[in-house]
Amino acid sequence: MGSTLSQLVNHQVRLASRPVGMATAENWRFGTEPVAEPADGAVLVKTLVLSLDPAMRGWLNEGKSYIPPVGIGEVMRAGGVGRVIASKNPDFAPGDVVSGLLGVQEYCQAAVGVPGGRLEKIDLKVGTPAQWLNVFGMPGMTAYFGLMDIGQPKAGETLVVSGAAGAVGQTVGQLAKIKGCRVVGIAGGAAKCDWVVKELGFDACIDYKGGSVREGLKAHCPKGIDIYFDNVGGDILDHALAKLAPKARIVICGAISQYNNTAPMQGPKNYMSLLVNRARMEGMVVFDYAARFPQAIAELAGYLKDGRMKSKEDIVDGGVAAFPQTLNKLFAGENFGKLVLRVAADD
Ligand SMILES: NC(=O)c1ccc[n+]([C@@H]2O[C@H](COP(=O)([O-])OP(=O)(O)OC[C@H]3O[C@@H](n4cnc5c(N)ncnc54)[C@H](OP(=O)(O)O)[C@@H]3O)[C@@H](O)[C@H]2O)c1
Repeated sequence: MGSTLSQLVNHQVRLASRPVGMATAENWRFGTEPVAEPADGAVLVKTLVLSLDPAMRGWLNEGKSYIPPVGIGEVMRAGGVGRVIASKNPDFAPGDVVSGLLGVQEYCQAAVGVPGGRLEKIDLKVGTPAQWLNVFGMPGMTAYFGLMDIGQPKAGETLVVSGAAGAVGQTVGQLAKIKGCRVVGIAGGAAKCDWVVKELGFDACIDYKGGSVREGLKAHCPKGIDIYFDNVGGDILDHALAKLAPKARIVICGAISQYNNTAPMQGPKNYMSLLVNRARMEGMVVFDYAARFPQAIAELAGYLKDGRMKSKEDIVDGGVAAFPQTLNKLFAGENFGKLVLRVAADD
């Protein structure tokens, strides 16, 4: 085993400098290092697929957030799925498939049991590696707990979700349909809007790039919005605020329209609608629900199995070298479904 590992080279992407606005090639540095035997208690994981997330842009900024920024010179943080290829930990064996923070690199030495070194074994009978980064991974858990705990859907209510064709949005809308809501998506472009209506069964979808969100909400939410699941912030949040129903709930999940701003972030203008409608706006961070992920995964797996739910992943080939340009697809709306970077074939 030792001689085989020593022949491997680990290609990595490190943060070279902090971006201003959209990240560019000069913000990243490609490097290699030899692959070493795992230390005592650790495992060595070969990365199969990496999750590319809007939150990554926030991790590049200096300053306080819900998680520390990636340091200059560090391997870029990323969730991923991989296969254990060597283990000095009794809980993991070579061949196990795991998910965790593997980083943008081909091999990860995971020090299991220390902060940041958490690895979960996953079952490929439940879903593919890419689905474990989507509906059974961080976006799916965000959708589930954001909707169920903060949104608290009731049958007959109207839910609006922005970023509707994306990773979080697709699961929010489908789950809300299963819970009996009328579901209206907001997405960029006719192809995405058609897909969420025809394939996922949303009641309507507003193309914010091709028409007026205000007019769309007026047409499709005649009784107002009971739940607005916000993935994008900015003007779209303001249009949703203007259409709230009494006792509405707004789930502040993300604000992707603001992540590359060089000017200060745009806050909501129409917030007095919260007062008028006795409404509530609440932020959520998915990691707070980690103890309940198994319950959510079991429920979502049931819906995928019985055909009530679908998942769409946008898998990009190209390995870690393709990371910088692939990440930026998220901010141009060029991903269609959960954006996944394939790093290696599972052989
Ligand atoms: N709070 C949490 O714990 C948590 C966890 C996971 C994700 N999130 C947040 O959830 C949101 C969705 O994440 P995701 O992983 O599901 O990404 P995603 O929706 O799969 O991809 C991002 C999508 O955002 C849309 N977008 C990009 N720029 C936009 C703009 N200026 N205005 C409106 N829409 C824009 C694009 O879709 P269109 O083509 O439709 O424009 C793009 O495809 C993000 O804000 C993310 O930060 C939060």
